[in-house]
Amino acid sequence: MSAETAVATTLNEKPGLKIPAHLAVIMDGNGRWAKARGKVRTEGHVEGVKALRRLVDLSIRYGIKHLTVFSFSSENWSRPRDEVNFIFGLLHRFVASDLATLIQNNVRVRIIGTRTGLDEALKRLIEEVQSKTARNTGLELIVAFNYGGKSELTEATKAIAKAVASGKLRVEDITEETITRALYTSGTPDPDLIIRTSGEQRVSNFLLWQGAYSELVFVEENWPDFGEQVFLKALDEYSSRSRRFGGIESRSQ
Ligand code: IPE
Ligand code: IPE
Ligand code: MG
Repeated sequence: MSAETAVATTLNEKPGLKIPAHLAVIMDGNGRWAKARGKVRTEGHVEGVKALRRLVDLSIRYGIKHLTVFSFSSENWSRPRDEVNFIFGLLHRFVASDLATLIQNNVRVRIIGTRTGLDEALKRLIEEVQSKTARNTGLELIVAFNYGGKSELTEATKAIAKAVASGKLRVEDITEETITRALYTSGTPDPDLIIRTSGEQRVSNFLLWQGAYSELVFVEENWPDFGEQVFLKALDEYSSRSRRFGGIESRSQ
């Protein structure tokens, strides 16, 4: 078991359930959820926000320390303009409407991804939610919005190159830690578990560096159908995994 993983003790319903310290979720399948019900895709995104609220509540109840959710990728710009605008509006409405509850629940919020392409009002709201929750000590909620792993690594590379060019950093002093610290997720441990919904089995440019040793669990349900049952199914699967990090099984296991 990783040092970052705890066995559930407060919730007796599932003895032996391992709780990842950092859970990351690729919230996929909103469009298919809507299509299967004869609805427009945007209705799937609206339901997806409700599922996100359920996930935040579950993460708090089960003692998860860090939760990262993928809500808009740098590749999602290739979608129809109307859908992109709708998703941006949804993020805006989610942050504005849930800010008070997040503060009340002691949640610390970080929005990661490039700010390029975001309008001024959304950028201000992001700053506001981050600063108003910065001192909270409960769940850290990281929303990956306008995020791509390759873009994040490119930005980190540029920052490191600049530090070298200006004489602040020597090439021989660059370590894995230097790169980890130059990423948006600096200060947060790597995800122990990445869940992807909707049956797709790929990472789609999510947390490429941070996910190097994450367990991957793929569930068939579309994101709007996510709730405690699916959450526990994924944690059960995670609990059965043996994380070796390149080593061998420990003798006690
Ligand atoms: C995930 O659902 C939400 C975003 C990527 C913004 P999708 O919109 O990708 O839904 P599907 O995969 O088309 O069903
Ligand atoms: C990944 O889903 C991105 C988010 C969930 C925000 P996509 O639906 O964009 O991924 P692909 O295109 O199926 O790989
Ligand atoms: Mg999708």
